[in-house]
Parts: sequence; C-alpha cells; structure tokens
Amino acid sequence: MRPEHRGYVVALDQGTTSTRCILFDHAGRLVAVAQREHRQFFPRPGWVEHDAREIWRSVVKLVPEAMAQVDADPSDIVALGIANQRETTLAWDRRTGEPVGRAIVWQDTRTADLVADIAAAEGGPERFVDVCGLPLSSYFAGPRMRWLLENVPGLRARAERGDILFGTIDSWLVWNLTGGASGGVHVTDVTNASRTMLMDLRTLRWSPEMLEVFGIPPATLPEIRSSSEVYGLARSVVPGARIAAALGDQQAALFGQTGFDPGEAKCTYGTGAFLLMNTGQELIRSTHGLITTVAHRIGDAEPTYALEGSIAVTGSLVQWLRDNLGLIATAPEVESLARSVPDNGGCYLVPAFSGLYAPHWRPEARGILVGLTSFVTKGHLARAALEATAWQTREVVEAVGADAGLSLTALRVDGGMTSNNLLMQTIADVLDVPVVRPMVSETVSLGAAYAAGLTVGFWSDTAALRRRWHRAGQWEPAMDAAARDRGWTDWQEAVRRTFGWIRPDPPGVASS
Ligand SMILES: Nc1ncnc2c1ncn2[C@@H]1O[C@H](COP(=O)(O)OP(=O)(O)OP(=O)(O)O)[C@@H](O)[C@H]1O
Ligand SMILES: [Mg+2]
Repeated sequence: MRPEHRGYVVALDQGTTSTRCILFDHAGRLVAVAQREHRQFFPRPGWVEHDAREIWRSVVKLVPEAMAQVDADPSDIVALGIANQRETTLAWDRRTGEPVGRAIVWQDTRTADLVADIAAAEGGPERFVDVCGLPLSSYFAGPRMRWLLENVPGLRARAERGDILFGTIDSWLVWNLTGGASGGVHVTDVTNASRTMLMDLRTLRWSPEMLEVFGIPPATLPEIRSSSEVYGLARSVVPGARIAAALGDQQAALFGQTGFDPGEAKCTYGTGAFLLMNTGQELIRSTHGLITTVAHRIGDAEPTYALEGSIAVTGSLVQWLRDNLGLIATAPEVESLARSVPDNGGCYLVPAFSGLYAPHWRPEARGILVGLTSFVTKGHLARAALEATAWQTREVVEAVGADAGLSLTALRVDGGMTSNNLLMQTIADVLDVPVVRPMVSETVSLGAAYAAGLTVGFWSDTAALRRRWHRAGQWEPAMDAAARDRGWTDWQEAVRRTFGWIRPDPPGVASS
C-alpha cells in the first residue's frame, strides 16, 4: 500500500434521531462505526426540539469510540467531514458557548403563523423563491431565527450587542471542534446556508434583502464557505485533524451515491425522505412544488445545484407506530406485520404530521387515516404506513419529471428504511422503475467523508470516487398497471382530504 493511502477519514453524521461517527479507509470501506441516539423533545403539538449540548457531548464520545475500534490515533486521521440534519436552528452565546434554549428541529412548525404574516406583508412566496429557491415555509431556518429573536426575552438586545451566534448544526459542531468560546470558527457551508431562506442562490452570499425581511443582525450569522475546504483544525476530540467538509445530510447522500453529474438522483429514506437530482451549474426553478438547493461546492469551483423533493414523514411514521401506538416493538417489525396481510385492506394513511412538504407545501394539512371499515387490522395499518412512503416518493418523482422534462430510469436509494424489502418492492411497484441500493448504505457519512477526503487529496477526483460505487440490491417493478393506477388515484384523493385541517381560530377563541 502506498503511504498516502494509509489513514482514515472521520465522518460525522449528525442526524435527527442519532449521531454516527464512521471511519472510512482509502478504498471507501466502512471500517468503524459508533452511534448514539439523542432525546427528542415535543413540548407542544407541532414543536420538536433537541438539546445541542447533548448532541455535542455525543460527538465528543463517539469519535474516540470509533477510532478505538481500529486503534487509530489522531495522526491516522487525514480529515474530518460533517454531514448534518438540515434547517435545525440554534443560537448560542459566543463567550460562554451556552446554547439559548433548545435547538428548533426541522420538523417543528411553530413558525407557521409568523410565516403566514410575512407572506401577507411581503407580497407572497414567489418573491422568496426567486432569491433563495425556496417557498416561504416554516421548514427553513431563517424564520426560526426571527422567532427566537422575537420570543426569547432579551435575545435581540444580546444579538445586537454581538454576543449571539446563530447556526445550523454544522456551524455548531465546527465552532465547538475548532475551539468553541476560545477561538472557534463560525462558518457554514453553502448547502446548509441554502436551507435558511437567507442566502442568495446565485451569489452564495447572505441576501441583504432577506436579512431585512427576517430581521437578522448580520453579525450573528456564520460565514458561508464551500462544502469541501479546510475550515480549521480540531482543537479537541481529534486534536490537529483538519475539519475539511460540511454538507447537509441529503446533499451528502447525493455525494456519497456519487451523483456528481446532471440528471443523477437519489432518494434517502430516514426520518423523512429526500429525493435530490443534480442539475449541474443550472439553477432550475420548479413549477411543480420542488425546491432549488445547492448540491455541493468543491473549494473554489462553480457550485452544483439540485432540485429536491422533501418529504417530512417516512421513517418517523414507523417510529410513531412503534412509540405512540405500540403496534410494533422495533422498526423492522413493521415489515412482518405488513406481510401478515396481502394488501392495505382499502386504507390509506397520509402522515401530514408537520403539514405536507413537497410537492404540496401545505402547512395547514394534518394526518389522516381513510378507508376504515371493521375489516381493517393493524397489519393493514402497517402496510398503509409503508405505502405512504412509496406514494409520497411517487409524488416527488412525478414533480422532478415534470420540472426537468425527463423520467427516471432507476431510483438510487439509501438510508435506514432501505433494509425493508417490502418497502423497496412497493416503491419499485408504484414508480414502475427499478430501485437500486449501493453496497455502502451509509451514504450520508460516505458523502461527508468523500468531500473531506477530496479537500485534502486523500482521493484525487470524483472519478476515483465513482469507481467505489457498487450495487448491493435491486428491486424490479411487478405490479399490474391497473392496480397501480387505482392506488395512485386513491392516494391522491386521501392527500386532498388532509388539506385545510388547521383553520384560524374564530374571534374570541384562544389558540392552544
Ligand atoms: N426495517 C425498517 N422498516 C421500516 N423503517 C425502518 C426500518 N429500519 C429503520 N426504519 C426507520 O428508518 C429510520 C432510521 O433510518 P436512518 O438511520 O437512515 O435515519 P436517521 O439517519 O437516523 O435519520 P435522521 O438522519 O433523519 O436522524 C427510523 O425512522 C426508523 O423508523
Ligand atoms: Mg440520517
């Protein structure tokens, strides 16, 4: 082995439910993995929070744990790359490093009213799409910053004094890794910044117009950097290691799937599901409910853009069956429960728990279970839950087809739900295209590792990475067209019935 091929890249995958630290070697093989869950806080309906200190503490524990599995010491680590849950937002004190309350998670809908007010005052969502590629929605980070400034007593004054830093989780981790209150760098990468509604997608800088709309003091914001460059050296955890990449987890997964060329797409099935299609240097504005986002930017190169179909609830519906309904004891059990019946028994479950994201963007929608008769059993519910993921995928695949003028020939998938064979088959059936899963299913971590390894020359170029992609599984469509069409029609009807559920309170009724 040539000496430059020794060592490992450390990838941190800071997800919604857990944090993983994975080590990859030069062959792109996963050689060590350590994982910890963190707590989910649901203080009110529609609110979802994380404790950012708990997340940082897991990073501090997990990295040495993974390194110990291969007896690595810091000199064996060629670089560290970060992939993170996106849009989750926090503020912290730059002198103490103390977070201001808990981080507001991407599924949280507390900014819905604020967003409606802004839309009414600012001339509708289109204006925002033009600048930042996103519809005005409580999904994104910028409205959360404004919400914090308006709702945390004293925060605006502290922010204006220069004591407060805002960030998404990538910023929080890089700042802590590079020294925190004693000299930590306050940066974010373009892919994360593209989820704030505050960045101009063309210039890749904070948009003065958007900062004005959201009332964000510029000094609170991180500096926007590319996805693949050295932000600084780690001062703790892996002292001396180069922090050499950061990407939103979905962009990282596209990178890990080696979706480097225009037209290449993947769908990642975790808490939610996210289909991203590379559109190259072209900024495609969706007219079918997709969003435009940065796929990655390598150093000083031109940015690569993507069209994205974001689905809020897929794996978390399985968790809900497990934790809230107690229908299953573990997530994988949903498959055997669903297989206990031959079909959905006529019922459809639309998990509009955070409203509906792509392609509908309906904040006022709420979940629905329709088609119930006394015939329906928990097996049917399990099947309807899995089918919900498949039909939601079809919705975004159709939108991509309509926007980009091309139809998919196969769908590359990854993420925790892809271990469910029934689900993979159902997706192939309802899309009527083959579904393909790669050997390394931890594509989020792999993408972060690839981007960091490219930065430091551990891998020479994207062609070298492409050679490391290997197929591990494939599912062929096997559903007859009439059944598919019938199901699609039923699904669309069920979705329609979720719309408009949250209605403004009549005068004199306090909201809960
Ligand atoms: N066999 C299975 N069938 C269906 N769903 C599953 C299965 N195994 C895991 N899941 C679901 O997949 C999700 C976990 O996937 P994954 O580990 O990719 O998510 P994650 O990376 O933790 O998500 P995030 O990054 O959003 O935190 C959970 O929501 C879980 O309910
Ligand atoms: Mg994940």
